[in-house]
Amino acid sequence: MKKVTKAIIPAAGLGTRFLPATKAMPKEMLPILDKPTIQYIVEEAIESGVEDIIVVTGKGKRAIEDHFDIAFELEHTLEAKGKFEILEKVRKSSNVNLHYIRQKEPKGLGHAVWCARNFIGNEPFAVLLGDDIVEADVPCTKQLIEQYERTGRSVIGVQMVGVDQTHRYGIVDPGERVDNLYEVNRFVEKPPQGQAPSNLAIMGRYVLTPDIFDYLGQHELGAGGEIQLTDAIQKLNMDQGVYAFDFQGIRYDVGEKLGFIMTTIDFALRNKELRHPLMTGIEELMERELRKQILVGRGEKV
Ligand code: G1P
Repeated sequence: MKKVTKAIIPAAGLGTRFLPATKAMPKEMLPILDKPTIQYIVEEAIESGVEDIIVVTGKGKRAIEDHFDIAFELEHTLEAKGKFEILEKVRKSSNVNLHYIRQKEPKGLGHAVWCARNFIGNEPFAVLLGDDIVEADVPCTKQLIEQYERTGRSVIGVQMVGVDQTHRYGIVDPGERVDNLYEVNRFVEKPPQGQAPSNLAIMGRYVLTPDIFDYLGQHELGAGGEIQLTDAIQKLNMDQGVYAFDFQGIRYDVGEKLGFIMTTIDFALRNKELRHPLMTGIEELMERELRKQILVGRGEKV
């Protein structure tokens, strides 16, 4: 069995949910604390044993390439000033070897993955979506690779979501289950509310066999008039069986504002310098809000 050594990170999306912040800056460069979201994703891939990463970019994404490049002047200045701790952080992002390809038209996630087919060739590979950051003891992608190595089949990372959330995700209609690994009757992309076959949602982590490109190459349009990765996975599932794996770890949705803010707060609460001042700050904000509500309740001006 061939090993999984390559990964695709699709990063061509327009980032409309964060406009105007993403007008001149890729959404993948928005930071959680002091690190761009895409760096969390790249680090997960590397910690999972991936050696070659291709980022599928689009217009206006140059900052991603610059971020993972060597910044000579900056490094020199930091070195001269003796700021070695920061220097080490800066170097961490330039030590990785990334490849880039452009998705020339916004035709959907399936199309973005298809754009990287020549880089992948005839090997199994991982896909990591930038809107999901996963904090886990064993990196999420590594967990999926382990399942792939055990079964020889494509494995899709899933977790439970609330009933009111299923329409935002690719959803799995699960079959037989052994531990956290499910056989799948059907994968369906963003089913309308109330019509989801389960609460098991695809969480932006995939290990796929290269046969997926046969289906992506059909360029069939799915939900939202886009070429959907989930639809190709369903076809692959009918052909050779694809597993869903309910991975261990906390998944953060950084692709929308509330999730992004909650992630920032959670990460800050786990940072030893920020934890206590942040807790005091939140307490003060909450007290202010409560006082406001009391005044409003009394019909007084705020
Ligand atoms: C994509 C996938 C969807 C998956 C989701 C996870 O949707 O198409 O199947 O559940 O990522 O974040 P998007 O959020 O890009 O619309």
